[in-house]
Amino acid sequence: MLQDRVRVSAQRRAIHEMVRQGDVVLDLGCGTGLLSFFACQAGARKVYAVEQNDIIDCARDLAAANGFLDRVVFIHGNSIGVELPEKVDVIVSDILPGFCPEGEVTRFLADARQRFLKPGGVLLPAQVWLFLAPIEATDVHDEYIGWWGKPLEGLNYDLVRSAAANRRYVVSLPANSLLAAAHCVEELDFYSGVAGVALDQEVRFVVERDGLLHGLAGWFDAQISPGVRLTTAPGLQQTVWQQTFFPIAEPVSVMGGDVVIGRLIAFAPDQVFWQWHLDVLSISGERKGHFRHSNFVPSRKDLVSRMPSFRPNLGGSGQVARFVLNACDGATTVQEIAHELRREFPTLCPTDEAALYRVWSTLRGQVEVTQRLSDFATN
Ligand SMILES: C[S@@+](CC[C@H](N)C(=O)[O-])C[C@H]1O[C@@H](n2cnc3c(N)ncnc32)[C@H](O)[C@@H]1O
Repeated sequence: MLQDRVRVSAQRRAIHEMVRQGDVVLDLGCGTGLLSFFACQAGARKVYAVEQNDIIDCARDLAAANGFLDRVVFIHGNSIGVELPEKVDVIVSDILPGFCPEGEVTRFLADARQRFLKPGGVLLPAQVWLFLAPIEATDVHDEYIGWWGKPLEGLNYDLVRSAAANRRYVVSLPANSLLAAAHCVEELDFYSGVAGVALDQEVRFVVERDGLLHGLAGWFDAQISPGVRLTTAPGLQQTVWQQTFFPIAEPVSVMGGDVVIGRLIAFAPDQVFWQWHLDVLSISGERKGHFRHSNFVPSRKDLVSRMPSFRPNLGGSGQVARFVLNACDGATTVQEIAHELRREFPTLCPTDEAALYRVWSTLRGQVEVTQRLSDFATN
C-alpha cells in the first residue's frame, strides 16, 4: 500500500487540497498513520486516527518519530464502536476494497459521516465508480484456468479447471486487452451512501475488434477530492488494486460487431459473493457462447449455519475455544490454561505443545495486552 506511489500521491494531493489550517480530522482505518500525517502537514489542529488492528502501535511510533504525536489521538478499535469527543471537519479514509460494490466500506463511512462529520464537512473519498468491460487476456486465462487442462506429470487435473473458472482474480491488464468500451455499472456516493445495497447489472457491449474473449474485467475510479481523481483502469500506472478478472471457462472467438451481454451480480450475506453471466452473439444474432459462473459455492454446513432459526451446538474446536476463553481471568497463565486444556481434551491436545498451540491460536486477536515484554524478563 505504502509503495503504491499513484495512490499515496493522490491521497496526499487530495488532503492538501481539502484540509485547512485548524481543521479537526478523522482518519478512518489509519493503518501506519499515513493519511493522519498528511493531514497534520496540511495544518490539521487535531487528528483522530482510528484503527482496528495492532498496526496502530506502529502508527503511534511513527507519529512520534515525525513530530505529530501532540496532534494525533490514536484510538484502537473498529470505527463502529468508537466515540469521538468532538465532530470533525474532514473524514479521510483509504479502506477501498478494489472492485467491490458495497459491503462494509460503505457501512463504516456512512456511520462515521452520520455520527462524526460536522454539517457541510468533507469526505475523502467522496465517490467511486465501478467499470466493467469484456477482455482478451490470453496469458492470464492460461495461467489461472487453461493451465489445469494440461497434463501434470502424467496426471489429469482437468476437473479443477471448472472450479478455477468460478473464481475472480486480481490481475494486471494492459490497455489493449479491452474488446469493447467499458460501462459504468455502479456509482457509490459516500455523502449519501447507505449499507446493504447489492449489485445486479446487465450490460450490452458491442465488440470493437476481432479477438478472443476470455471474460470480464472490473476496476474503479475514485474521486478522492474535487481536484483528485484516481483511476485503476487497465494499462495505466498500476495501483495496489490492479484489476479484477471474471473469467469464462472457454475462450470464445469474437469479431467486431459481435455483442457480449454481461450480467454481474454481487450479494453480501456477510462477505461479498459474485455471479457473472456472459452471452456472446454474432452480428446475425447467432449464439456463440453462453456462460454462468459464480464463486458462491457454500457447503451444506455453511448454508445451514446461516439460517436464523438454526440452533448452533459447538464442535470440538469450539469447545476448546470456549474453555480457553473462559479461563482468561487475568490471573491464570497461558501455561496453566494449556495444562488444564490438555487434561480436559486429551484427544484434541495429545501433547503439551498441541495444547499450547490451541491456546495461542484461540487467544490471537482476543485479548488485551497491558503488560510490557520487560515484565516477563527473568534474572
Ligand atoms: C488499506 S489500509 C490503509 C491504511 C492507511 N489509511 C493508508 O492509507 O495507508 C486500511 C486499514 O483500515 C483498517 N480498517 C478498515 N475498516 C476499519 C474500521 N471500520 N475501523 C477501524 N479500522 C478499519 C484496516 O484494519 C486497515 O489497517
